[in-house]
Amino acid sequence: MGAFLFFYPSLQRNLANYLTSLVYRWKSLYNRLPFYAMNHQQVEQRIRDLIAELNEHNHRYYILDDPIISDAGYDQLLRELQELETEFPDLVQDDSPSQRVGSRPQSKFEPLTHTTPMLSLENAMDDQELIDFDRRVRKDLELETLGYVVEPKLDGLGVELIYINGVFTAGSTRGDGFIGENITQNLKTLRSLPLRLRSASRVVPPYLEVRGEVFMAHKDFENLNQRQLADGKSLFANPRNAAAGSLRQLDSRITARRNLQINIYAPGRIDDFEIQTHFEFMQALKDWGLPVNDRYQLCNGIEEVLTVHQNLEQNREALSYDIDGSVTKVNLIAYQEQLGIRSRSPRWAIAGKFKARQEITRIMSIEASVGRTGAVTPVANLEPVPIGGVIVARATLHNQDEIDRKDVREGDTVVVQRAGDVIPEVVKVIMEARDPHSQAYHIPEFCPVCHGHVIRLDGEAKHYCQNISCPAQIKGRIEHFVSKRCLDIDGFGTKLVSQLVDTGLIKSIADIYSLTADQLAGLDRMAEKSAENILQAIENSKSAELWRMLHGLGIRHVGEHLSKVLARKYGSLKGLSEADIEDLEITPEVGPIVARGVKEFFKEEINLNLIVELKGHGLDPVEEVDSTSPGILVGLSFVFTGKLDFLNRDSAREIVESNGGSTSNSISKKTDFLVAGPGAGSKLEKAATLGVKVISEADFRKMVGIDQDHV
Ligand code: IVH
Repeated sequence: MGAFLFFYPSLQRNLANYLTSLVYRWKSLYNRLPFYAMNHQQVEQRIRDLIAELNEHNHRYYILDDPIISDAGYDQLLRELQELETEFPDLVQDDSPSQRVGSRPQSKFEPLTHTTPMLSLENAMDDQELIDFDRRVRKDLELETLGYVVEPKLDGLGVELIYINGVFTAGSTRGDGFIGENITQNLKTLRSLPLRLRSASRVVPPYLEVRGEVFMAHKDFENLNQRQLADGKSLFANPRNAAAGSLRQLDSRITARRNLQINIYAPGRIDDFEIQTHFEFMQALKDWGLPVNDRYQLCNGIEEVLTVHQNLEQNREALSYDIDGSVTKVNLIAYQEQLGIRSRSPRWAIAGKFKARQEITRIMSIEASVGRTGAVTPVANLEPVPIGGVIVARATLHNQDEIDRKDVREGDTVVVQRAGDVIPEVVKVIMEARDPHSQAYHIPEFCPVCHGHVIRLDGEAKHYCQNISCPAQIKGRIEHFVSKRCLDIDGFGTKLVSQLVDTGLIKSIADIYSLTADQLAGLDRMAEKSAENILQAIENSKSAELWRMLHGLGIRHVGEHLSKVLARKYGSLKGLSEADIEDLEITPEVGPIVARGVKEFFKEEINLNLIVELKGHGLDPVEEVDSTSPGILVGLSFVFTGKLDFLNRDSAREIVESNGGSTSNSISKKTDFLVAGPGAGSKLEKAATLGVKVISEADFRKMVGIDQDHV
């Protein structure tokens, strides 16, 4: 049977899909009969079970930022509940998630009641459900064809912004749809959020509420996780969780560092504002200087809607942020009003969901993979499964604690997910499908590559192979050194590294620079021209910038970004090696853990020898030292006006500059913030016309982390 399936992958897939759907339905098969075969009491029990389960998932999603079910799985449960409630309206419970928009907010922020509820959207799981939506809407409106706007469905956190007389006054999370959390201070740190609206091309209504999504771009997500790793903190599973976690920080300085983005897409209550279409509303948002996602499109009829939806799905991977579907909205506001709303969603809009980026598959084996630092990472070899257009055959299991927490074993059926550009990971085990004879997995005591001891030190999450001459570590270190984001030696790929280490031609990074044309040409499948090119690329790498070299050396906790920070501050390997620990610790973004990593690196004789050898080959990059440390205000310009209560002008200016920002006496388009105190005059008006954010002295002090007592 196994061999038969092996030769017929499509059959294998079908069988796997079939088994998968069986597993998904396991609960339903065992827990419930079709409603027509249940008695009233059984239906009531099933409804209560579904509500309890959905509310638990809501809590994990909205409050803990730690969901254990995919969106598709959640939607399936919700649909089952809605089906039952439609059949048995007398059994609809007050606490049913179908009667509310979400779940109650956490109490750490002040509650803020929305003037009109923040609704959710009904989901269309496939093209047919979008077609059904169009038919339903046209039937209600008695129309042959209808105009829509189709937009990307951003995968972040829904928020509301309130502008009074054009000034950003308050902002909140969606919460349960009725009451959200007051996160005004945190929202103010978002650079694309105007603190005052522009009124040059369109009158700004006296009272304006708008809704939008806060999200994090893939690049910022990866940087954040890199920093989390360096600081020994736990990683965010995906950009949405990272955005939610960053926005709900009690300390808005942390939010400020996370580079969150916001796009506005819906109105709340707006006074004295008349428009005919959603398309026009989007234009109004742009006129007021509010950020919108420019990929919205006007569609005439459902055929065009389907084309735009499919295009979005196809181009999804090319975007620099996550989207999880499209949103189709009836364009004419008069029709929207005619269609009205249900309890939790409007009748005039629908979310077209993309195919899940989570799939179910089986772990064929678990392998201990040894990296360049000697860290032993357990990796699951999976039955290959397509997720979001990519075939996934391996997924990280992170470390022994994660394996224990999820109780992952060889042979298990598991949910695997891809989020952003991160390595696929196993989300959870489907316990119902577990082989009762399976065994718990333990990272081996001896390295699978060199048989050296593998140990886990106190306080560390990872196991490490103790043999620094382990070929896996040597290969990993060399691969890292020559990679794009380090010395960028073109043509020096994984295969070549493997060949060179296996044939004994190189044993360390420095040996790369002693390679000869003959040695390279003697390798299997190496053309003379390729050998020449590689030698040329090796030669070119000798003039690489200092940060590339620092990154390439693989100093513990020092990734690309911190390499740049350290290169700017210390200017050379010598400078960095002589830095004292206190000086390192006070360097912005460095901190004690990274500082220790640097000090320990330069204590090791083997590393010092490597640096000497590299210098002998002509690699000793030097760069001008930038004494103004790059701080949290890098790239930002400030103007101060009016009376400052706690700071005098000079010290305010000094604070900006020591944090990497710049100051000026006059306001211009390039100004990012006007810090205004009592008595501020014409600069305020100018800021309003130029769309420059106005903040108070207190806001400024919060931004740079100086409270009253420290002034
Ligand atoms: S419109 C009344 N447009 O999706 C309609 N929502 O599942 C309100 N979302 O709560 C929403 N992108 O947080 C709308 N272009 C978009 C959206 C969008 C993402 C989120 C929003 C909403 C959730 C509904």
